[in-house]
Amino acid sequence: MGRIVFAGAMSHVLDPDYYQRACGALGRRTVEECMREIAGMGERFSATKADALIVVADDHLNAFSFNAVPALCVRIGRHVQRMSQDHAEAFDKVLDHMPERYAVHEGLANAILERGVERGFDLALSWEAPVDHAFLSPVNTMHGTRPIPPLVPIWVNCFVAPQPTARRCFAFGQHIAQVVAEGPWTAGIIATGGLSHFPELSLPRVGETDTVFDRRLIHWMETGEHEPLLGLTGDELHKAGEHEFLNWMVLIGAVTPARADVRYFGELPRINMAAVEWRLA
Ligand SMILES: [Fe+2]
Repeated sequence: MGRIVFAGAMSHVLDPDYYQRACGALGRRTVEECMREIAGMGERFSATKADALIVVADDHLNAFSFNAVPALCVRIGRHVQRMSQDHAEAFDKVLDHMPERYAVHEGLANAILERGVERGFDLALSWEAPVDHAFLSPVNTMHGTRPIPPLVPIWVNCFVAPQPTARRCFAFGQHIAQVVAEGPWTAGIIATGGLSHFPELSLPRVGETDTVFDRRLIHWMETGEHEPLLGLTGDELHKAGEHEFLNWMVLIGAVTPARADVRYFGELPRINMAAVEWRLA
């Protein structure tokens, strides 16, 4: 029987040079400290020798477009490519030194997709979409030079209204846990992004964060009180710069009622950086 053997969530712009430019020496120090904790989480994950790593992240309107905006999308196939963009955002330039191709765990990805549709999740699928910093910065920071197990990339629409609800993301996470439990594989799961920040899409608010809101989320994760998280509305998340917390909601659904340990939380004017790991039974 399969099992989730590791669960962690973390910010996904992990580039000291980017934060040096955006927030000066404090920015560099903060992201470096956060990255050290994520690397430690990666060592603990590698020690589990898991068969797969499920990565839940959001599309930054570079894998998909307004042509079609999937609420929840599972990447299937055998390999996934690192995204390459001619006019990459600064934080996607950091991908340049990373491997270009990653194995996909085809069996687990197909099971999440097929049984998800059977159980009422109208999932999108993709054979082609490449992965950007939201997937690869955390994955590579976790692994360093160690081998990366086959991935199951999953996209959540965090940006374009109407997004899936927090409750729906949580239920999808419960579905993922069920699929893992039914299968023969052990898997880690990470969710990336956040915490509070306002990306360029919300230009007037770039440089703000909502630390009070972050601390409420952290409290509920630490105590395993997941009911209040289910009631978070899209409007609340939007106003607090917590859009990417929907990725975290998928993970929380997969591990509920496990409690979280905060490995790192650091405030910057631009974003609150976080690394959180769940205590699994
Ligand atoms: Fe992001």
